Amino acid sequence: MKTLYFDNAASTCVAPEALDAMLPYFAECYANASALHSPAQRAKAAVEEARETVAELIGADDPSEIIFTSGATEGNNQVLNTFSGRMLVSAIEHPSVANPAEESGRSQEIRVDSEGSLDYEHYSGLLKTRPELVSVMLVNNEIGSVQDIDQIGTMAKEAGALFHSDITQGVGKTDLGLAGRPIDYATLSGHKIHAPKGIGALWARSGAPLKRFMVGGTHERMRRSGTLNVPGIVGLGVAARLMIDRGKEEAARMAVLRDRIIREVSSNVSDVRVNGQAVNAPHILSLSFYRTEGESVIINLDSQGICCTAGSACSSGMNLKSRVLTAIGLSDEWLRGTIRISLSRYTTDTEVDELIGALTSSVAMVRSLAGYATG
Ligand SMILES: Cc1ncc(COP(=O)(O)O)c(C=O)c1O
Repeated sequence: MKTLYFDNAASTCVAPEALDAMLPYFAECYANASALHSPAQRAKAAVEEARETVAELIGADDPSEIIFTSGATEGNNQVLNTFSGRMLVSAIEHPSVANPAEESGRSQEIRVDSEGSLDYEHYSGLLKTRPELVSVMLVNNEIGSVQDIDQIGTMAKEAGALFHSDITQGVGKTDLGLAGRPIDYATLSGHKIHAPKGIGALWARSGAPLKRFMVGGTHERMRRSGTLNVPGIVGLGVAARLMIDRGKEEAARMAVLRDRIIREVSSNVSDVRVNGQAVNAPHILSLSFYRTEGESVIINLDSQGICCTAGSACSSGMNLKSRVLTAIGLSDEWLRGTIRISLSRYTTDTEVDELIGALTSSVAMVRSLAGYATG
């Protein structure tokens, strides 16, 4: 059975170009990039080329501001761990920001509205508590809502705080140009942009404080110890280059596919709502089907080779409700029927046609088995 993959917000496939570029660094040019001999210097040159490309992709002034990490979780933890004072984080952050913030005991959550946009009145009030750091993500991974990081960063700076944004889901989908914006730190992950898992980057503007997270050697200018993951870094560099060259065009194509799914599913199925903002990120679509068990729909789609994600997991017996869907105020009747569909550059028109057909019939089947009635 063919697999139709609509879970690109969870992870993407490695681009063939990135994979080809990585291969020599496993068994041919495998030297430790910190050594002095020639193979090491070749590896180091490849690392520095990737650093320049990642800097170009996010619009950093200086490649030395890029630190290679194991992914966005590590970068987010490193930024938050740098601060010992009060912090503000949005109510819809990824767990790699939300959990360290909560465990610090020094953090407060900024509310969001029903579309997943920051509640500025609440934010403005919280800024009076004089936080040291504000952390708000660029694009939400569950509903695709996009935050105005210029406005949020400007308000943070006026209140004397530094500003971090987890840009993991926004990379390659929007113009970043971080150097010219009121941002001090940004974090991203390779496996969301067709690089491998286990590689990411943290951008810290020159002069912004940054505490080492792991203590060891002097790698990455004393900011991140540990032997460099050269193949992963090379893969990230090539994935970044592809995003620079094609990201904008691909984002526009994904937005057309996303809009088609919304249009056709809404006309085929009753009692469905689209979560997020009117103009969302192009690759993430969150649909809620009223009084319909989302997990059953996901399992049914999976049996047809179609991969999507549910907004809550009830079959585990733990009733794991999405924090994000709860934060936007979705009632249980909508929340339990929420499905995330996420696209990539490799998603085709034909796959979207198949998804629309399968989703329409799966929802109808799950509803009829449950004796669905509205109202
Ligand atoms: C917004 C966001 N931040 C952080 C992460 C974590 O990234 P990583 O898997 O690289 O640790 C993810 C991945 O799910 C994400 O979507």
